[in-house]
Amino acid sequence: MQHEFIELSREDAVGIIRLHRPEAYNALCNGLIAELGQALEALEADDAIGAIVVTGGEKVFAAGADIGEMLEREHAGLFVEDFPFAHGQGWERLARCRKPLIAAVSGYALGGGCEMAMACDIILASETAKFGQPEVKIGTMPGAGGTQRLVRAIGKAKAMELCLSGRTMDAEEAERAGLVCRVVPVEALLEEARALAASIAAHSRPVVMQIRESVNQAFETGLQAGLLFERRAFQGTFDFADRREGMAAFAEKRKPVFRHR
Ligand code: HXC
Repeated sequence: MQHEFIELSREDAVGIIRLHRPEAYNALCNGLIAELGQALEALEADDAIGAIVVTGGEKVFAAGADIGEMLEREHAGLFVEDFPFAHGQGWERLARCRKPLIAAVSGYALGGGCEMAMACDIILASETAKFGQPEVKIGTMPGAGGTQRLVRAIGKAKAMELCLSGRTMDAEEAERAGLVCRVVPVEALLEEARALAASIAAHSRPVVMQIRESVNQAFETGLQAGLLFERRAFQGTFDFADRREGMAAFAEKRKPVFRHR
């Protein structure tokens, strides 16, 4: 399928989606979000794919929702469409993705760009990455998780400061704050993201999905509910052929051969 705003590629078990609208700093227009949704749909349906990297350009991951597109919009229309969910076809597609998503961020990840990175499971940053929720400077506020996921990721004080002031934070600060898992040189970013995705994809797919859902419970529920979910999911892995294979391989001092069942 031809895309106008993204590039989609596959390398072994890794799907790579590159946001590619450089003339507008990868501003997340409706067309881009629709293409992203279609790409996620295709990669999720592809049994050969075990993990997905979402990246942008060197200078910009994404500078937010498209301000030009939003300029003349009004409350009623946004409400009916449930923007930015867009009748289930928009941003929500990203949150619904069940395969591990790694955001590889270089340059600006602002507003919706920061929210998109945070909707992924892991953020890997280059040294030039800059994160922020600057919506307050244009008279609005985050609308795709910025006030919620940022608080959970870096705590109230820092999230409040960033959302209220519109200040951006650099990669080093983002790593210290716990928003990103690691900072790597710009030229190594994609390779590192690919390697991380490949290492995840090499594991048993159902086990990876269980772990991912369990970690997300820590974001979405209280401790007791999360611990119960984790325990049940852990017990559930004992039904997987891959669990038996993994433990048998360890006992036999060989590499496991996972069949994703
Ligand atoms: C539309 C954008 C854009 C955006 C940049 N551009 N960000 N277009 N929407 N969010 C366009 C510019 O208009 C310009 O196009 C080109 O990209 C380069 O931008 P410049 O401003 O000239 O570049 P620079 O001086 O280097 O500054 C980079 C920047 C700045 C700091 C990233 O562009 C900026 O502040 N952008 C807006 C960031 C922002 O407010 N994001 C939040 C949006 S609201 P032309 O044609 O003039 O060359 C949001 C809400 C999400 O995200 C809610 C739910 C989805």
